[in-house]
Amino acid sequence: VVDIRKMYGQTGMFTYDPGFTSTASCQSAITYIDGGEGILLHRGYPIDQLAEKARFLEVAYLLLHGDLPKQDEFEEFRHNITYHTMVHEQLAQFFRGFRRDAHPMAVMTGVVGALSAFYHDSTDITDPQQRLIASHRLIAKMPTIAAMAYKYSVGQPFVYPRNDLSYTGNFLNMTFSVPAEEYEVNPIIENAMRRIFILHADHEQNASTSTVRLAGSSGANPFACIASGIACLWGPAHGGANEAALNMLREIGESKNVKQYVDRAKDKNDPFRLMGFGHRVYKNYDPRAKVMQQTAEEVLKELNISDPVLDVARELEHIALNDDYFIEKKLYPNVDFYSGIILSAIGFPTEMFTALFALARTTGWVAQWNEMISDPEQKIGRPRQLYVGATQRDYVPLEDR
Ligand code: ACO
Repeated sequence: VVDIRKMYGQTGMFTYDPGFTSTASCQSAITYIDGGEGILLHRGYPIDQLAEKARFLEVAYLLLHGDLPKQDEFEEFRHNITYHTMVHEQLAQFFRGFRRDAHPMAVMTGVVGALSAFYHDSTDITDPQQRLIASHRLIAKMPTIAAMAYKYSVGQPFVYPRNDLSYTGNFLNMTFSVPAEEYEVNPIIENAMRRIFILHADHEQNASTSTVRLAGSSGANPFACIASGIACLWGPAHGGANEAALNMLREIGESKNVKQYVDRAKDKNDPFRLMGFGHRVYKNYDPRAKVMQQTAEEVLKELNISDPVLDVARELEHIALNDDYFIEKKLYPNVDFYSGIILSAIGFPTEMFTALFALARTTGWVAQWNEMISDPEQKIGRPRQLYVGATQRDYVPLEDR
């Protein structure tokens, strides 16, 4: 039996909390979640109001600065962001080093991490002004980098940012326009993307945000910190769930097969889970999933697409929400359940889904990173462990073992 307190030289209470289910790692004034009631507020504003009415850059400003911008503040912020949308031409060389079929999240982790090599000498994180510039650069360059990752994968030339378009309109243009053809951003699609970006902008101390904070707590370069967040987001239990959810819906194929998959998800001997269902914090309907569902209906109607996956998703939701297993465990659709259907209808390949999540979440990551650095109580993040290994023993030379 190990006396933990003696081992760590501490006399106070020691908690063991795998997955941090009940341990707060920080104080934050950015995002409030009431998982029981299904409420999500950014700086006090309900997510559905922001998703319905706000521009994405208003939300980015809100997360960073604490209040919605006044008109002149918004214009200045928009100017600061559009000023930084280009990436250094040399960065294109980084893309050329990747295999064409590399996952965009692998590419983005590498390329965003590489930005730290471009801005290593101008990022004094103790200076709030320099932190703000790094934040603007990240918010501005992520759409450019995500669009470049897409263009590289399909073998088309990179498209330069257009600062006369909205944040989402510019991203759609960089992704889908090709030199020889006219491309006009469809306002319904632009609005859907705006909503998707806002719904993904922040979600308090989720795994990737906690990763950014932990990396940032050592004083690391902000671009490197965001790259660590992208890496963490990639996993199927986190941001990768949107890709996994659509793959699952396509595999189910038809509404008549839904019950069989719901039964598999309930079987303790089968590792299968319903992707896009369940959440660590929400024990009620994820408020983002509701907006997502409505957006999916709108986009498919606008594009005149009758995708059977939407029927499968509706049937799956209906069966699961009326099933005792899901009711008892409080498993509801999360933000990832419908987002893949929308993104696929717009024309994004599934591999790009998590990259878009990373693009949008960058605003939350930089807001959380700034909040952490400016917190006078901030310390390096250093979790403890419950040691369960061997007790002290003596080394035996290799030949005598
Ligand atoms: N399908 C079937 N059963 C599930 C599901 C699911 N999607 N999610 C949870 N359960 C069950 C578990 O088997 C477990 O059952 P048990 O108590 O009998 O062992 C119980 O519900 C609790 O699940 P945990 O994994 O302990 O809950 P946790 O809070 O750790 O996990 C998570 C949350 C990872 C999101 C989980 O619900 C999951 O794997 N969902 C599918 C993946 C997904 O959609 N992820 C996206 C999350 S949202 C986001 O990151 C943006």
